[in-house]
Amino acid sequence: MSSFPESVEICEVGPRDGLQNEDPIAVEQRVQLIDALSATGLRQIEAVSFVSPTAIPPMAGAEEVMARITRVPGVTYRALVPNERGAERAIAAAADELEVVVSASETHNRRNVRRSVDESIDGAKVLAGMAHDAGLPVDGIVSTAFGCPYEGDVEVAAVAAVAARLLEGGADSVSFGDTTGMATPRRVDALLDELDRIGVPSACVGLHFHNTRGTGLANVLMGLTRGVRRFDASIGGLGGCPYAPGATGNVVTEDLVHMLEDMEIATGIDLDALIECAHLAQHLVGRDLPGQVMRSGPRTRRGEAT
Ligand code: COA
Ligand code: ZN
Repeated sequence: MSSFPESVEICEVGPRDGLQNEDPIAVEQRVQLIDALSATGLRQIEAVSFVSPTAIPPMAGAEEVMARITRVPGVTYRALVPNERGAERAIAAAADELEVVVSASETHNRRNVRRSVDESIDGAKVLAGMAHDAGLPVDGIVSTAFGCPYEGDVEVAAVAAVAARLLEGGADSVSFGDTTGMATPRRVDALLDELDRIGVPSACVGLHFHNTRGTGLANVLMGLTRGVRRFDASIGGLGGCPYAPGATGNVVTEDLVHMLEDMEIATGIDLDALIECAHLAQHLVGRDLPGQVMRSGPRTRRGEAT
């Protein structure tokens, strides 16, 4: 049996990555979801992004969301920022941590933020400086880290090189985003090998999987065997608008916590409270979400004998 970490950190990304891919819901409902998540024992919540409301309408009103949530001590409320204006807004709104994103593939980066990868890496350095001046940490996210929907496979060396440059530019940690669910355990293993080779320790690595092709938890398991201790997930599997063909949410938070806790890997999260949040998320977006434990209940649940 492999040795797994004793505990892991889960970052709940439903309020940002999830909701950004759903029809917009009201600020008040976003606040309700974040507050409910804050009461589960989660310590990291990606609450909003400070992006153009024209580009991403569901993230409009990020200031209002941040002003109205009830902050729970010990919970880090993270915000994604695409540019200096975003960083200024996030700092003014008292976000606890900033996230900067650079795609590993040129085409995806241009489509997402209209810049080349090099320009984005330079920009990330400026944003990291702004965050540090405000006393905030920065996570550098490498998206399309396991494949690009436009360019196909992305070489692990290219992905790792972007991460190394983000760390050199001031990022305090790096995360790898499987933007469109192209990762499989073999590819996770290969990327972690490459990161080892260039000296990026697993301790500062986070993994962000989408369950587009059903490999999400398998990918997490591979990360765990390699000593990764930071994973993103979204409540109920929020994300992936039903009108966008093929779009799917992240690894499901409550399914992940359910699996980890039975593996005796501590998350610090109350599974029942999380399942309540998944039902709330489903109610707020008005459609069935793909989470499975929210439907079946935990494995310890006893049914009627038949
Ligand atoms: N917050 C709010 N508005 C912003 C903004 C920010 N951080 N950055 C730019 N804008 C607005 C500008 O005011 C401008 O608005 P206008 O058209 O009403 O005048 C518009 O966005 C375009 O601004 P510009 O400076 O020309 O930016 P750009 O076109 O070079 O870049 C991005 C646009 C990157 C800011 C925009 O596409 C964006 O926010 N993308 C978000 C991508 C994202 O979140 N992807 C998912 C996460 S990985
Ligand atoms: Zn994502």
